[in-house]
Amino acid sequence: MTLSADPILDSLEAFAEAAGDPTPLVYARLFAAAPEMEALFVRDTDGAVRGQMLQQVFETLIDHVGARAYSANLIRCEVVNHENLGVPPAVFASFFRTVMEAVRGTIGERWTPQTADAWRALLADIDAVLAKHLAVTA
Ligand code: HEM
Repeated sequence: MTLSADPILDSLEAFAEAAGDPTPLVYARLFAAAPEMEALFVRDTDGAVRGQMLQQVFETLIDHVGARAYSANLIRCEVVNHENLGVPPAVFASFFRTVMEAVRGTIGERWTPQTADAWRALLADIDAVLAKHLAVTA
């Protein structure tokens, strides 16, 4: 599937502009939806791991709508790494949607119908990457 890169890149840029540091915003949403995940970040005393993880997620999304040099492999590796950390695959997968919701909730009118379409296609594509992987490893 060819994904539409520009609306995703525009929305991420708008998000960075509007949110400043988006880390607290995204994790507040995650922990509201999955409170049991917060305790897994015990070692992250200063928030650096959360920030690094979110940065990796942004980079993965950008790769996935662009060059696709590594995104599918990284997602497949991280779902396994995270399962070992105690993050169920379904919760892992939900993080991309959490990011989308944080973007949508922050960028106001810069969230357009084209943005919504592009994110819907992107999330469906990532779900397919994960579903294929989980079917293989189940
Ligand atoms: C709700 C879903 C997720 C949860 C609950 C979660 C949880 C965590 C936790 C607890 C750590 C810290 C591990 C430690 O203490 O060593 C971590 C690190 C990390 N996560 Fe996630 N994760 C999620 C989704 C993702 C996704 C989707 C990606 C990327 C595709 C990702 C990439 C990373 C990376 C790269 C690190 C290492 C950061 C660093 O230490 O520099 N995570 N994650």
